[in-house]
Amino acid sequence: MADAIGNKDAKDYYLDIPQTNTAFFAKGLNNTDWGMKNRLSRIFNPVSGNTVMLAFDHGYMMGSTAGLERMDVTIEPLCAYADVLMATRGAIRSCIPPTYNKALCLRATHDTSVLFEDMSVGNGWGVDMEDAIRMNASAIAIQCFVGGEGERDSLETLCRACDAGYKYGVPVLGVTAVGKQMARTTKYFLLATRILAELGASFVKTYYCEDFEKVVAACPVPIVIAGGKKLPEAEALTMAYQAIQCGARGVDMGRNIFQSDHPIAMCKAVAKVVHEGYTDKLAYEFYLDEANK
Ligand code: 5RP
Repeated sequence: MADAIGNKDAKDYYLDIPQTNTAFFAKGLNNTDWGMKNRLSRIFNPVSGNTVMLAFDHGYMMGSTAGLERMDVTIEPLCAYADVLMATRGAIRSCIPPTYNKALCLRATHDTSVLFEDMSVGNGWGVDMEDAIRMNASAIAIQCFVGGEGERDSLETLCRACDAGYKYGVPVLGVTAVGKQMARTTKYFLLATRILAELGASFVKTYYCEDFEKVVAACPVPIVIAGGKKLPEAEALTMAYQAIQCGARGVDMGRNIFQSDHPIAMCKAVAKVVHEGYTDKLAYEFYLDEANK
């Protein structure tokens, strides 16, 4: 307890310095609460404004895929090089040590497994907010199927998750999932990203496409791009570079990092593009140098 006797009298009120009232750095999020901004500042680096999210949530619908057979062996060493882990609570609790002290974006929907013809049939909320907070999540991810059979269910899940998110100060990442029957066009991504933001998502994950700058411009909150299927490293770096040039605030990349022959080198190279303004060519040279060490 503070000592009540012998305290110095307060005297310096800095009358010539107006109190700082800085606008929040992330697009469209200035009117959110302190707790949400604090969590967003763990997701997005306040200096670059960008993020490298490492997605390894694939098992929740695919079971184990190449590179994720043993997450304790393959993912744990990569954690230090990403800003955020995007994964399920099962993967995090079983394979990632709690001493990991960067951000976590918890996959919070359950979707249909790969045994189903088309995943866009619908989903549900898979993690309640109490458990997300218990895990110290900086965000939760909700997948939505705009235009798919499961559109209504998944948007309802998003709305309820955003309600809980605003109640507790936890940002929601809206993920635009594309079912088999759905075309990956600019028109589609313009529609889907905007809908997720309007329904309350604090940031949106989508796929890179033609005229991506228009998708970014029409989405009032930050966009991060998904990696998608494994590409040669040079091409994946070009995709990341082009997305950043168009205004994306980062990547949420999985297979293009953990299925690389040199996952740590690839994660570091992606971070050079995302945070340090490297061109794709420079980043690929960096990747080769790191891989050959
Ligand atoms: C799909 C997802 C994925 O589960 C995952 O995060 C994708 O990662 P990548 O495509 O980069 O391997 O969010 O919408």
